[in-house]
Amino acid sequence: MGEVQIVHEVRNDAADGLNGHLAEVKELIGRSLEAKKFAYCPYSKFRVGAALLTHDGTVFTGCNVENACFCLGICAERTAISKAVSEGHRDFKAIAIASDMCEQFISPCGGCRQFMREFGANWDVYLSKPDGSYVEMRVGDLLPASFGPEDLKVKKNNIMNEF
Ligand code: THU
Repeated sequence: MGEVQIVHEVRNDAADGLNGHLAEVKELIGRSLEAKKFAYCPYSKFRVGAALLTHDGTVFTGCNVENACFCLGICAERTAISKAVSEGHRDFKAIAIASDMCEQFISPCGGCRQFMREFGANWDVYLSKPDGSYVEMRVGDLLPASFGPEDLKVKKNNIMNEF
């Protein structure tokens, strides 16, 4: 799985001994698999779906949306997060990501990791396979030593007269 460190065991159809947690995760992964069906990816032919769970239980889905001007394409994760934020939701509990790769877990790109991190480092990311198996990570695991909104608020030297 490249540079991604697996910090939780891969879970599949084992009994749910986590007070419904596993059922909740499976539901979210199911929603990301559904969202993948809407992927608009005529150039890469690489379908991705995402399902974002907010703290109040709302789920926002997203897919990748590519463009003939290649650099304008947007990833599934960013679609889902932008949908949520644009409807007033900023408190995220988890995001599930789905692709068609059978032999490896889909891993979010660096840009999406930073996009997630904007809304905190302590929430869950489920990297899945089409069979529903997944790896659970935290945003902070995916982007260690990150730069975030808090960094813009720390004391700085006054550079006003230097430019
Ligand atoms: N893609 C995503 O939507 N999310 C990811 O986590 C990785 C990559 C998309 C971007 C592009 O449309 C296609 O997959 C190939 O990179």
